[in-house]
This record gives sequence, C-alpha cells and structure tokens, in this order.
Amino acid sequence: MFVKSAASAGLLLALANYASASPVLAKRVDVVAPAVANKFLLTPDTPADNDGSNLSLKTEESYIWSHQDQGIVANMTLQAASGFRLLTAINMQDVVESVDCATEDITIKFGSAESLQAAQEAWKWVNADAANTMIYVAEGQACAGTKGRQPFSVESISYDAVAQTALMAASLTKWKDFVEDASIRIAGVPVDATGSDAQAVKRRGVSKDVTIDIGHDFSGPIFNTDVDGISVALNCDSCKTHGTADADITLSLSSGFSASVRTHNSFGADMDVSLTASGTLTDPLSFSVPIATVPLAGFSIADLVDFGPQLNIAADASVSAVSASATASLGVSASLPDGSGFTLGQTADIQPNVQTTKLGVTGSVSVAAKVGPVVSLELVASFLGKGVVGGLALQAPVLSAKFEGSASTMGMLACGNNTAEVSLELDVGVELDGFAGFGGAGDRPNQKAVFQKDAQVFKSCLTV
Ligand SMILES: *[C@@H]1O[C@H](CO)[C@@H](O)[C@H](O)[C@H]1NC(C)=O
Ligand SMILES: *[C@@H]1O[C@H](CO)[C@@H](O)[C@H](O)[C@H]1NC(C)=O
Ligand SMILES: *[C@@H]1O[C@H](CO)[C@@H](O)[C@H](O)[C@H]1NC(C)=O
Repeated sequence: MFVKSAASAGLLLALANYASASPVLAKRVDVVAPAVANKFLLTPDTPADNDGSNLSLKTEESYIWSHQDQGIVANMTLQAASGFRLLTAINMQDVVESVDCATEDITIKFGSAESLQAAQEAWKWVNADAANTMIYVAEGQACAGTKGRQPFSVESISYDAVAQTALMAASLTKWKDFVEDASIRIAGVPVDATGSDAQAVKRRGVSKDVTIDIGHDFSGPIFNTDVDGISVALNCDSCKTHGTADADITLSLSSGFSASVRTHNSFGADMDVSLTASGTLTDPLSFSVPIATVPLAGFSIADLVDFGPQLNIAADASVSAVSASATASLGVSASLPDGSGFTLGQTADIQPNVQTTKLGVTGSVSVAAKVGPVVSLELVASFLGKGVVGGLALQAPVLSAKFEGSASTMGMLACGNNTAEVSLELDVGVELDGFAGFGGAGDRPNQKAVFQKDAQVFKSCLTV
C-alpha cells in the first residue's frame, strides 16, 4: 500500500497488490488468512560523498542500503558502544588492493607501502589495549556472502611490510552486539530522475518521502447472522478509503518508530453502510467483525530490518433494541484537507471535511444501532531485533442511530400517534488516530487523535 508513485510502484508497496487481490470481504467466520506479501531485500549501496581512502576508526558511521526498482533508500546511522570502533571497507576501497576472507581471519593487502603505514598509524588503537575491539564492516560477496555487508569483530592486527598486508584476528559478529544506539531513515528516491541521472540522484540518497497510498475499496456484505431470534445483516454499500500520504519514516533503537506525514489527494474515506435487523431483541447485541487483513509488500535488510506493513479492516456494530424489521442506512464522507501535516503519535488539530452522504430508515419499527468500520494501517517492523510499530487507525463512521416507531412509548413521545411516523436520531463520529513507538502487530503505542469529529446529524420524525 505504499505506492511510491505511479513511477515506482512502490515503496513498500503497492496497494496495487491488493487492490487486485479481491476485496476480501468475508463473513465473520471465514476471515481471509493473511497471504504472504512480497518482501524486497535491500542491498548495500555507497553514498555519493564516499572518498574511498579514509582509514580512520570511527565511533559513528552511516550505512546506505537501497532497492533500485522499488525506489527505496535506507540510511542507518550507528553509534558504537564503548570499547568498539568502526572501520568500514568501502571507506578505504581505493587504497586496498584485495581483501582475503577465505579463513575467518581477514587479510587486507594494500596498494602501496604508504597506505599500509597510514593504516598502521590509524589502527594502533586496536592493539593498544586488550579491551579495544575494532568492528570491520566488510562488503561484497567474498567477505559478506549474500548479505552483501557483514560486521567482523577484530581483536588484534599484525602487519607485514614486505607483503603490504594487515592480518586481522577476526570473528563474525552481529550488529546488535556492538551498537550503542542506531536509527535508520527510510525514504524514496526522487522519481523524476532517469537513467544515469537516477543513479546519481539515488547515490545522493534519501531526499524524498515515501508515498503511502491508502486507496482501497472494500464494498460488499460484511456480516449476516441470526442470533436469539433476530437476524442482523451489515452491508458496506460503498466503502472506500482514498488518498496518499507522504511519509518520512525513521526507526530507532532508542525511540522506536517515528514518522511525519503529509496528506494528499483527499486522504480519507467514504462509507455508506446499511444495517438490517428484524425480530425482537431482548438483550443488546454487539459484534466486532474482522473483515480483512491485507499484508502489503514490505522490505528487509539482512540482520537489521524487517518491515511488514499491513492493512486491517474490521467493523464494530451493535444493536441494542429492535422490534419488527428495519433497515438503517448511514453514510459519511471524511477527508483531510490536502497538505495536512502531522506526526504519528502526536496530537494534531486538523479540521477534516466531514459530510453525511446517506441517511435513511425503512420499516415501521424501533431500532437502536451503532456501526463503525475501522480501517488501520500498521507499519510493523523489527530493527536490530527490537519491535517497532507505527500507523494510522480510521474509525469512520461511528454512526449511532435510534429509530422509534409510533408503536413504542419513545416514539409516541417524539412523534405523536401518527402510525406513519418514526423518530430518527442519528449521530456520526469520525476519528483518525496516529500511533508510533515500540511494539508489534496490534499494538498502538502513543495513540493520539489526528482529528475527531462528532455531530448529531439528524433528529426528527420521518414519514415512512
Ligand atoms: C576521515 O573521516 C573522518 C570522519 O569522517 C574525518 O574526520 C577525517 O578528516 C577523514 N580523514 C581523511 C584523511 O580524510
Ligand atoms: C545518512 O544520515 C547521516 C546522518 O543523518 C547523514 O549525515 C548522511 O548525509 C546521510 N547519508 C545520505 C546518503 O543521505
Ligand atoms: C396517543 O394515543 C394515546 C392512546 O391511544 C393517548 O392516550 C395519547 O394522549 C395520544 N397522544 C397524543 C400526543 O395524541
């Protein structure tokens, strides 16, 4: 559902994926089991400003991964824990002739005696104290295998001036074993670049937001059941989410998931729902119906990031009184003004456009009902083994309707004794929440409203 834009179908992926995969509307009993979505593997990339001959050990370093076709770039900045310093292979590739990883120890052969000397000077910290550990971040198939980038822990280094080599006593290590803090920023690649330009712009990095397209049509029957002598049917006559959000996403070990978003193309939902109930209800009935869980294409970076967005659609409904038979039709259209910006997990005070689109009741009866489809976009990820999650939850509409036919006491009070009239009271509520922080699927850390709107849209006697 992340569609980077028409041009690169996807940051994380494409609503297209799932727009085509039938609307997955199901009865309560046969919720569609999540299919496995595409997961793109990002591979190591080199930043444009890489000088290639810097031998210095660092306590902080940035690493880039990208996926060309999907237009995704990820930039991780890592601070090493105390006692560790970082040496990154690509930073010195211009002065190195070859790297031998055939055994676990690593032999680096320099192109010149001067370079070996410079290395010896730059790396003397490693041998200075047994507690000092250098992390050598290797690149390429020979040293890093299919991952393309792999850290090694180096305890000591010996040098051979004749062979112009440095021999590192090394062992495989894991990123999380030497990290103090780290964050990774996920972004799109500018779409207007093509060919070799695209390459150049890509290597400049991380300059465009990721675009998330929330467009989805889930019209169709939701629920149909007979319980305790009443039958209830809930139908989405026309239910659609629409719009896009540009997001700037960062995953961090110390602060979890964070993202700022800006909405476009009338970000919101149009929902026309009808609820039919017949029979005589003595006890209130409420139900929550999972409609669909749609896994969206995500991406991963070997040993570091696993990013799996999904869209959840559910409906909450309740019927608290019914006699005879009635159908309530309720509809609302809610959207954010284009250009609205907010940060997930922080309150925002955006004025949405909310309009009721369909109101009605048929049947000479009494019914009190509440319907609320809930659409949530969950961006679930693990970063260096920690669970982080962010996303949006839209409840629209929460519609509550009370119909009182003239046969009931309430109805008489409201509309008198004309049997052709019912009283109708309808309230609509629309709420969009954002959330971001630590957690997993189903969690909504720091959930805060982006907007919330309640209104009584209707209260009168209707002729039926
Ligand atoms: C190597 O990189 C470090 C940190 O980015 C910088 O301070 C240093 O000046 C660079 N050394 C050379 C020789 O360019
Ligand atoms: C990656 O992030 C670091 C830290 O914010 C920044 O200095 C660097 O320029 C970024 N690299 C790219 C290619 O955007
Ligand atoms: C409605 O009818 C009942 C009895 O049939 C009567 O007692 C009551 O006064 C009537 N109410 C109105 C508003 O006409």
